[in-house]
Parts: sequence; structure tokens; C-alpha cells
Amino acid sequence: MKIATVVGARPQFIKMAPVSRELRKYFDEIVIHTGQHYDYEMNRIFFEQLSIPEPDYYLGVGSGSHGYQTGEMLKRIEEVLMKEKSDLVLVYGDTNSTLAGALAAVKLHIKVAHVEAGLRSFDRKMPEEVNRVLTDHISDYLFAPTETAVKNLQKEGITEGVYLTGDVMYDALLYNIEIARKNSNILEELGLKPKEYLLATVHRAENTDNRENLENIIDAFIESKELIVFPAHPRTQKYLKAYGLMEKIEKAPNIVLTQPVGYLDMLVLEENAKKILTDSGGVQKEAYFLKVPCITLRTRTEWVETVEDGWNVLVGADKGSILNAIRSFEPRGETYSYRFGDGKASEKIVGIFTGRRD
Ligand code: UD1
Ligand code: UDP
Repeated sequence: MKIATVVGARPQFIKMAPVSRELRKYFDEIVIHTGQHYDYEMNRIFFEQLSIPEPDYYLGVGSGSHGYQTGEMLKRIEEVLMKEKSDLVLVYGDTNSTLAGALAAVKLHIKVAHVEAGLRSFDRKMPEEVNRVLTDHISDYLFAPTETAVKNLQKEGITEGVYLTGDVMYDALLYNIEIARKNSNILEELGLKPKEYLLATVHRAENTDNRENLENIIDAFIESKELIVFPAHPRTQKYLKAYGLMEKIEKAPNIVLTQPVGYLDMLVLEENAKKILTDSGGVQKEAYFLKVPCITLRTRTEWVETVEDGWNVLVGADKGSILNAIRSFEPRGETYSYRFGDGKASEKIVGIFTGRRD
């Protein structure tokens, strides 16, 4: 069987790493990179650090409106699939690259497998929610990371082809955490001491493209007076500059703004943070796996387990709520990472393709 993996954005490189490693023991894989993310820190660094197979096709779509980006991807992926005659297309997560890959395949009657199926925030204003719902409804294999995801699919009438596999990001973290502890010097480079700083990431459209929300978040960071390390996504950097907030940050003695960091540095920054502030899906989970309290700069999350278990609190972009959580949010009870599988989600996924199910 010939499998075409379609990726394009930062979290997809991380998700595909453990799956590709396993997949290539049994199948021919070609990697189609849409080019959605292209800066070194958003792209190449992950291929270099995680030994991800080099893309066979780099489509170079780049940035643009949703219609432009998804449309260009669709056209270019279709051309490759027609040439390669793949038997199956594998897509990850909920980006425009995910939807384009799935849509190109289904129209060519190629089977679609979706890793991270069934996630829902129940907020259709999020582009990711639209991408998830549409991708799930045209997938033949739906690999759900959690029981919640399986139930979400059931509620939409999707029961065939659904497999509870666990979360491939948990696999990636378990595989890389020791490597990160040994190899990353990021704490030394930034002059940080374990548990004496907070870590922040922000990139969600609802926070960056809305001046008030981004300003509230930055003001809360500054007013907290806590040392906050903030590796900023290029989208966020762009809006910080456009709104005149970059100067404010540069003047604030407690904010360490950096370029996005590689995955190994990120794991070390996360593990040693006192608390994490984020609107990222992946970072919320990693905080939970690493037992670091998480303050989520959104009003909803797909990763409800992290909130149910008391390790994540949803504060949105409200300044007072963010400050309050920075000062007083304390997790309660244990974390239960088994709710995200046993670190062998990638083996389970590939086992389903080979027919070897253990
Ligand atoms: C995308 C995904 C989001 C995911 C995130 C992971 C969609 C709709 N969104 O959001 O679900 O959480 O990736 O990080 O697919 N830019 C650069 N250099 C790059 C990439 C982006 O400068 O290498 C800038 C461009 O100005 C671009 C903007 O960031 O317009 C947004 O990039 P885009 O890929 O459209 O969306 P993300 O916000 O990255
Ligand atoms: N990440 C990283 N460097 C950074 C920020 C995030 O390596 O500067 C990793 C993070 O550890 C996680 C993934 O990127 O594994 C999450 O991706 P992102 O936040 O871009 O997207 P989301 O998960 O929200 O779709």
C-alpha cells in the first residue's frame, strides 16, 4: 500500500514524526508538504531535530486568505495524487492543510485517514473547527485520541472506521523528552531557573486578529510582573507590530520575547515553567503530560480532560481573569495521561493499516 502523508504546519510535523517512523516499517510513504509554514523556526527546524523524512513534494503554497490557501493546496495536492496514485492519504489535526489533503483525496476516490479525529470546540467561528468537522465527515479511518473524541463522532452519526488509538503527541513527547533534557541548553541561553518563570504562546486568530484581545493579553502579562518567556508565532509578531504593542513588550522588563523555538527547547521550557499561558491546542496537552498548570487564553477547549482533571483553566482574553489565574490558579489532584493513550498511538494506527491489531 502506498500512503501519501499531507502536512504543512508546525504541529503536523511533530504529529507525523512518530507515525512515519512506524509506517515506514511496513509501507511506502510519500510526504507532501503544502508549504503552509515556511520560516526556518516554523518548519525546517522540526525536520532537522525530529528526523522526519524529507518531503517528496514541497508545494510552496505559503500564506494567504483561507480561500486562497486552501484552494491552492487543493489544486496542487490533487496533481500530486493523480501522478502518484496513492492508495491512502493521511492527514493530521485541523489546519487548512488537513482539509485540503482530505478533500483532494476523497474527490479522487482515495481513502482518507485522519489522525486526531473527533476533536470539537463547538465553536464554528474557529477555522480549525470547520476543518475538523469537514475532514471527519469525509474520512474512512478516524483515529480518535480520546474517548471524548469518539463520543463526539458518535453524536454526529460517525461510528464506522472510528478507532480509539490515543494521542500521537503523547507518543512524540515520551520519545523526545529525555533527548530534550540532554540536548537543550535553552534555560542557560535565556538565563532561566527552573520554576522561576512562566511560559506563554499565543497564535489563535481570535486573539491575534483582534486588537482588544491581544492588548488585554499583553497587558496582563506585563502587569503580572512575573518573568514570562514568550516565543512568538510569526502571526503574533505581525499583529504585535501592527497594533504598536511590540514597543510596549520591549520596554517591559519581565517579558522575554523570542522567535519560535524548536520542539526540544519547547519541551524543556514547558517542563520547567511554573505555569503555562497558551491558546495552543498542543501546548495545553503537553502542559498536562508534564504536570505543569495551564492557563488557557480561550473560552473553550477541545482538550476537556485537562480542564476536568483540574490542571487547565479557561480564562479567554480577559485581563482580570488572566491576572487572577497567574496569581492564584493551582491545579488540584492528579494528571491521568492514560486518558491520551499509552504512548503507542502510532503503533496502533499503523497496526490498523497492516491488519495487525494488538
Ligand atoms: C495555523 C493553523 C492553526 C494551527 C497553527 C499552528 C489554519 C487555519 N490554522 O495557524 O490551526 O494552530 O497553524 O501553528 O490552518 N507566517 C509566517 N511564517 C510562516 C507561517 C506563517 O510569517 O512560516 C505568518 C503569515 O503572516 C501568515 C500568518 O503567519 O499569514 C498565519 O499563518 P497561517 O498558516 O495562515 O495560520 P497560523 O496562524 O499559522
Ligand atoms: N511548539 C514549538 N515551538 C514553539 C511553540 C510551539 O515547538 O515555539 C510546539 C509545541 O511544543 C507543540 C506544537 O508546537 O508540540 C503546538 O503547535 P502550535 O501551538 O503551533 O499549534 P496547535 O497545537 O495550537 O495547533
